[in-house]
Amino acid sequence: MSAIVVIGGQWGDEGKGRMVDLLAQDAAIVARYSAGDNAGHTIVNHLGKFALHLVPAGIFYPDKLCLIGNGVVVNPQVLLDEIQQLESRGVSTKHLYVSDRAQVLMPYHLLLDGLEEQVRGAGALETTRRGVGPAFADKVARLGIRMADLIDAEALRARLEFVLPLKNALLERLYEAPPLEFEELYRAYVDYGCRLKPYVRDTSSIVRQALDRGEQVLLEGAQGSLLDLDAGTYPYVTSSTPSSLAAGAAVGIGIGPTQIERVVGVYKAYMTRVGAGPMPTELLDETGDIIRREGPAPEFGATTGRPRRCGWFDAVASRYSVLVNGVTAAALTRLDVLDNFPAIQVCTAYELDGGRLESFPATTAVLARAKPVFEEHRGWRKDTSDVRRFGDLPKEAQAYVERIEGLLGCPIEVVSVGPERDQAIRR
Ligand code: GDP
Ligand code: IMO
Ligand code: MG
Repeated sequence: MSAIVVIGGQWGDEGKGRMVDLLAQDAAIVARYSAGDNAGHTIVNHLGKFALHLVPAGIFYPDKLCLIGNGVVVNPQVLLDEIQQLESRGVSTKHLYVSDRAQVLMPYHLLLDGLEEQVRGAGALETTRRGVGPAFADKVARLGIRMADLIDAEALRARLEFVLPLKNALLERLYEAPPLEFEELYRAYVDYGCRLKPYVRDTSSIVRQALDRGEQVLLEGAQGSLLDLDAGTYPYVTSSTPSSLAAGAAVGIGIGPTQIERVVGVYKAYMTRVGAGPMPTELLDETGDIIRREGPAPEFGATTGRPRRCGWFDAVASRYSVLVNGVTAAALTRLDVLDNFPAIQVCTAYELDGGRLESFPATTAVLARAKPVFEEHRGWRKDTSDVRRFGDLPKEAQAYVERIEGLLGCPIEVVSVGPERDQAIRR
């Protein structure tokens, strides 16, 4: 056995949490490898509905190790709250570990996320304001604090004595904001370190040993490829490094790329996006609103509660993400949301300045001018939420899935027709 990566193929919220929860049945370890608590991964099961921000979606299986890898930035308060909430709802977190190399999200990251957004004004990225962008910027600037420092009071003091004056200079001189007081911040973070110490491990060696034993490891991506720093609609992207692309999984967990055997790309049966940036198939009319509100899990952000922008399936953008991730199989989610539409559109190309564009452009300026070329599909107007075999889907729904499969250029192995674990068709 080897490692399988699950990535989001669009602008996030494709149902990665739900797919990881399903695929984890065969895995020994489930590990998050990138981003921070800007992610919101929803799992619906017999205990209720859970929105996980840092804890991997495998946590509901008591016999599987759940790891937060070195590629993640961890807000200690958010992680402790998440652990406490899971425990209070009857979910054990005894099998959860955090990498000693993971970055720690600090209060100045939260402040700077908000202040930078204010400065951007009309050009704001509409971030989740979880401090994740500034935390990754510090990682790259070599100003980060890692979990290994957090759990060692002396190391933390030395690191904070170096970093905090730089951050306070930014806060005071650039943003005219009050500085953060050293002792108060230090004491709070020493306390976090004490509480999180039992969870901190060399997670990459845990993963390597499992792979050596022939066990399957599931690597859970965050966000979506169109939000990726390199591949996405820059600058309207998220800042994670390592990237949330499949290639980032090896780096963010501490294994070699040759150990990744399969890449599962998760795609919605249509598109959504939260935050600013171009989205060619966005529907600003009533149809967009119907998609947003249809079905058992309306399209509102799991992290911020913001309404998600909705539009028809964009095959140009989605196929691009198959290519940049090396997706070997796709999962198509939320097919049931389209159950009541008489007609469904799929964007197969863009029209740009009178010509036809079939590849995903590099700049947001070009993407903002791209007009979708639609192909119309007949709707099925039947409830699919109880269907468990592909052949039992209405003919029109089968044709829709098969057409998307052709446009993506990779097999669709799972079709999801509801938020719960068993509401899936495995092909
Ligand atoms: P993630 O960030 O990729 O894990 O996705 P989110 O959890 O942010 O958003 C996906 C939403 O769709 C959640 O509310 C899920 O419960 C829900 N969901 C997942 N799969 C399906 C499906 O097949 N049908 C419906 N109706 N909802 C789904
Ligand atoms: P999951 O893992 C959807 C978006 C934000 C914003 C941009 C930058 O649940 O799919 P950031 O706070 O990361 O600096 O914001 O990225 N964004 C997401 N959108 N799903 C996510 O995660 C997202 N994480 C960040 O809305 O547009
Ligand atoms: Mg989400």
